[in-house]
Amino acid sequence: MSLKLGVNIDHIATLRQARRAPYPDPLDAAAVCLSTGADFIVVHLRKDQRHIQEKDVARLCKVFPGKIHLECSYSEQMEKAALKYKPHSVCIVPEEPGEVTTTGGLKFSPKTNSRLMKMIANLHKKHILVSLFVSPVAADIRTAAKLGADIVELCTRDYSEATSSKQAQKLLQELALAGLLANELGLEVHAGHGLDYHNVLAVADLGGISCMNIGFAIITRSLFAGLPTAVNEMKGLL
Ligand code: PXP
Repeated sequence: MSLKLGVNIDHIATLRQARRAPYPDPLDAAAVCLSTGADFIVVHLRKDQRHIQEKDVARLCKVFPGKIHLECSYSEQMEKAALKYKPHSVCIVPEEPGEVTTTGGLKFSPKTNSRLMKMIANLHKKHILVSLFVSPVAADIRTAAKLGADIVELCTRDYSEATSSKQAQKLLQELALAGLLANELGLEVHAGHGLDYHNVLAVADLGGISCMNIGFAIITRSLFAGLPTAVNEMKGLL
């Protein structure tokens, strides 16, 4: 059975916001992605709303119920938005002001954990599945399970930035072990960040992962190949 593909369409909105224009519309992108191989649409609602806007989340969740995977921080403002629009699932990610993209998995601490536990419980009350974006580290996987997450998304950023095949192999092994532990603890496993048409195969081959969340590589490929081809090619690899 092939892995599921979540296509992150943030950069469709990045392009729109470059001109503050009404297009390209993330809703159109979502429709194309879902009809050409995507199983889910991923959007990251950032505090500064520099690409995806709250109104995009509202429209996407209304038009594509059961298909929207919302990435957001664990702030109360984001929790409120998630509870209001009820996406299929929420992936809680760390968010630093000024960062170009998410820099890594959540950094757990007693204060963060109690906030996360509260947010996870509130999302569950609305039947929203909760994923935590984590580094492929045993202690963090165990914490995610203890906090009540349904899913862990393993951060593949370090793997995608490996500068030698030896380093990539070592990081793949870490991802494999983390995935195995997560499965043992009853968690569904996703993977994402920095995955592209070349480096995704080795991650897909690890087993135990149910969904890959990929954005930048697909959206940039779509500029030259078209969005249907870019999505279809990636789904074909999975
Ligand atoms: N998963 C998470 C948690 C992310 O924050 C991102 C980036 O928004 C992605 C996946 C997609 O990463 P990329 O755009 O590098 O494919």
